[in-house]
Amino acid sequence: MPIDLIVGAQWGDEGKGKIVDLLSNGADFVARYQGGANAGHTIVIGDKTYVLHLIPSGMLQENTICIIGDGVVVDPDALLEEIEMLASHGVSVKGRLFISNKAHVIMPYHKLIDTLRENRAQQSGQNNVIGTTGRGIGPAYIDKARRIGIRMVDLLNIESLKTKITSNILEHNEIIEKIYNQNPLNTKDIVEKYSNYRTSLGKYISDTSLIIDKARKDNKCIIAEGAQGALLDIDHGTYPFVTSSNPTAGGACTGLGIAPTSIDKVIGIVKAYTTRVGNGPFPTELFDADGTELARVGHEFGATTGRSRRCGWLDLVALKYSVMINGISEIALTKLDVLDDFDSIMVCTEYILNDNKLDYFPASSEILEEISPVYKSFRGWNSSLNGIRNFDDLPENAKIYISFIEDFVGAKVKLISTSPSRKDTITVF
Ligand code: IMP
Repeated sequence: MPIDLIVGAQWGDEGKGKIVDLLSNGADFVARYQGGANAGHTIVIGDKTYVLHLIPSGMLQENTICIIGDGVVVDPDALLEEIEMLASHGVSVKGRLFISNKAHVIMPYHKLIDTLRENRAQQSGQNNVIGTTGRGIGPAYIDKARRIGIRMVDLLNIESLKTKITSNILEHNEIIEKIYNQNPLNTKDIVEKYSNYRTSLGKYISDTSLIIDKARKDNKCIIAEGAQGALLDIDHGTYPFVTSSNPTAGGACTGLGIAPTSIDKVIGIVKAYTTRVGNGPFPTELFDADGTELARVGHEFGATTGRSRRCGWLDLVALKYSVMINGISEIALTKLDVLDDFDSIMVCTEYILNDNKLDYFPASSEILEEISPVYKSFRGWNSSLNGIRNFDDLPENAKIYISFIEDFVGAKVKLISTSPSRKDTITVF
């Protein structure tokens, strides 16, 4: 059976948690393909709210098997905490969680250097503060690319693990001491701590590409889940203000060991307006009362760091680009209800740079900082979408807004979410 792929189409925080949870009802497997505990996927079921950072959102469906794929960077402590949190809510991962033996492991020096680098950039006053989540993501992917990373499979071989960690700490301590003037990390403590993960995590470590391949051959329903969003992609996002992996559709192939030909459709999760956490260009960012209102009504605070999210109108130039680079065929439109009380709603349809029109998303972050957005204004619907379950029952102005988005970006809106709850979802037929 072909694989359905779910990607965040903007700068992350589009509401992937709820949509993956919903779509995994009936799915046999949900597989996460990149990122790490920098992600925060929020799922509301009844009166319970779950925030998952590493474990795929499919874990909250009773029978779905969840995979943490090759492209993910795993923080063992964060993962164990999440397993415990789920257990405290009566959700057992036993027999339903598999972690790729090729996934890289986040080490204490990754987290430390992530924070030290950001602090130093902040102090230097230069424009190179990324605003990372401080979860060690960038430094872990750096080690992967330098071919010195520790992988999940290494946790199973204590002798070689000790050697690898010891030489890595030596190297990272040099950076910590010489560049950042901080005390070195204690090798013995780290070796001991990481050696113990064989006991707590060893049972989950597997060759997940084999599991997925077998599942495909057995005609199982598989969902591939990305974290963050396309505009934070290391190759296609607003570089350098990006994360260090590929949230875009292509990342699913490398991050799970699957072929492009095995993917059936790409579903883009799109928030009905735009948000961004951390630094970097954001053409439609609002600094006025509308921005404050979007943040207030949308509860726009990061699920991982608690930071306030920057808010703005929907940027269709950016979204069209995202549809193109991901091959998005269907859209799940989230948080439409946040727009309920706006008299007018704007969407950006092109950029202006030095009096010239730009109808594409520029590669340069410097140019993106300079451009001015051109808006098209829509009348709001000034009524609550609460409780609406059928597309036909939506206010006419909401239908007009949706239809414009579809025509502009060339993808159909198939799901509309009007609250964090599972039940507040409209399927468009
Ligand atoms: P890092 O992934 O922690 O290295 O952070 C790099 C950039 O990606 C920063 O701007 C973060 O705020 C942003 N980022 C990382 N994870 C997420 C996420 O799950 N949602 C939104 N932004 C994120």
